[in-house]
Amino acid sequence: MFGNFGRIRIFALSVGLMLIAAACDGSSGVIPTPDSSLPPHVADAANGQRLFKNESCSACHSTDTRRITGPGLAGIYSTAATRDSDLTADQYIQQSIRNPGKFIVDGFNNIMPKTYSQLSQDDVDDLTAYLKSLE
Ligand code: HEC
Repeated sequence: MFGNFGRIRIFALSVGLMLIAAACDGSSGVIPTPDSSLPPHVADAANGQRLFKNESCSACHSTDTRRITGPGLAGIYSTAATRDSDLTADQYIQQSIRNPGKFIVDGFNNIMPKTYSQLSQDDVDDLTAYLKSLE
């Protein structure tokens, strides 16, 4: 009844709607597989700063040297390079976020939430870029 042209339009419309639905769904908690047809994510320290507050990192970590529940994160990028000789500073920071129990900073308890392993890789990259900027 629609003829060929109509069918193609309906198909194009439904693909469009699926793309919109996919773009809106940021809250499933499942780590999305990066789409290899898209350019790689450029780490965004400003978004990292926003996440640091919104994900409650700032409840336990100051961005200077003050201790709250966790260590102050000033200079974390240079400290991170010295924590584990098998890890680069970037790898150590990412491990600290995704798997905080793997390395426990001296004098602190293993109480950082494990739930940050659910963050997308883009968010972890943005947080890392922000932490690197703390001097
Ligand atoms: C409930 C408190 C708490 C929250 C929330 C928390 N952390 Fe932590 N974090 C800690 C504690 C305590 C340590 C030290 C013990 C350890 O190494 O796991 C730590 C360690 C770290 C370290 C390693 C510091 C070092 O000197 O080696 C980094 C980096 C870090 N956290 C980043 C984050 C980020 C980013 C977030 C938010 C996504 C976050 N933390 C949320 C408590 C917390």
